[in-house]
Amino acid sequence: MLVLGIESSCDECAASVVRDGREILSDIVATQIPLHERFQGVVPEIASRTHLEWIKGVVERALGEAKIGVRDLDGIAATARPGLVGSLLVGLSFAKGMAWSLDKPFLAVNHILAHLYAPELEEEIPYPFLGLLVSGGHSIIARVEDFDRIEVLGTTIDDAAGEAFDKVSKHYGFGYPGGLAIDRLAEKGDPEAFNFPKPRLHKGGHTYDVSYSGLKTAVIRQLENYRRPGALTSPENIAASFRKAAIDILVDRLLRAAEDTGLRRIVAGGGVAANAYLRSQLSSRIDFEVHFPSLKLCGDNGAMIAGLAARHFMRGESSGFDTGVSARVPLYRRLDR
Ligand code: KG4
Ligand code: ZN
Repeated sequence: MLVLGIESSCDECAASVVRDGREILSDIVATQIPLHERFQGVVPEIASRTHLEWIKGVVERALGEAKIGVRDLDGIAATARPGLVGSLLVGLSFAKGMAWSLDKPFLAVNHILAHLYAPELEEEIPYPFLGLLVSGGHSIIARVEDFDRIEVLGTTIDDAAGEAFDKVSKHYGFGYPGGLAIDRLAEKGDPEAFNFPKPRLHKGGHTYDVSYSGLKTAVIRQLENYRRPGALTSPENIAASFRKAAIDILVDRLLRAAEDTGLRRIVAGGGVAANAYLRSQLSSRIDFEVHFPSLKLCGDNGAMIAGLAARHFMRGESSGFDTGVSARVPLYRRLDR
């Protein structure tokens, strides 16, 4: 089964052809980061217009690298939610148009489920497992029962993990997104130099929820102190202590969820899953089976969309052409496609 997957929920214009839900034949990711960098964040209007300009070329490259023609496809899929509405509309409409004109099945994909499916493209992982999805838009701890069924146990009550890295990075004067730059700087510092505050949950929060606003404020204050004459610390130490605190928040909740659910298998996904400290903290645990996708599959990509869609197509499932996009998905309930 050959499936084309299109991803355009944010600032990556991506398309990929995947065989049988597992074998990646092509994986094209055209990033818009240089266009948004000077605004220190993604500008929705620029994102959707750029997707519109790029989408045809990106899909053609994906088909070309996979050495197939459109008629060889068995199904066409695109991200439908959550994400930037204008950006989602470009990919979803393109996929619908292709599917309709070629008379092929079409599937609208949930981006969160697709990130949690990404590691399956590289190794077979039995369900159920605990999923950790950490990116610029999400911080989700979930019980993943199958590729089409998750139960969200915890999420962020303010910023997403990647967003916290990006905001701290902005104060360092690094470009957007800044997670990788902070991660690299942190490698040279002492993670014990500062004991940054760990969040206590707000009233009404859920046990596995995370929060980044307090940590972010404390780190930014420390950065301002460091810039004063006679300061005794270094930017590396602040970065290392921030990274440790930001990742420990996630790991603490994840281990608590593992304890409570009895699940010993952990699968991570999303851009922050590329973080070196997170990878070493989880991988060093011998009491868990931990799976990380390769760095290329951590960020947004079309392969995770095609892979997940193939599993649905194999069951004879498809979406109607009246399926729309949505900016958000409701959390704290079972998520399905
Ligand atoms: O999954 P992704 O590519 O896009 C979203 O769906 O958001 O994630 C991008 C996010 C950005 O916030 C970026 O700063 C962060 O992932 N990120 C990292 C690292 N690499 C990317 N954060 C921490 N450490 C990294 N090594
Ligand atoms: Zn994503």
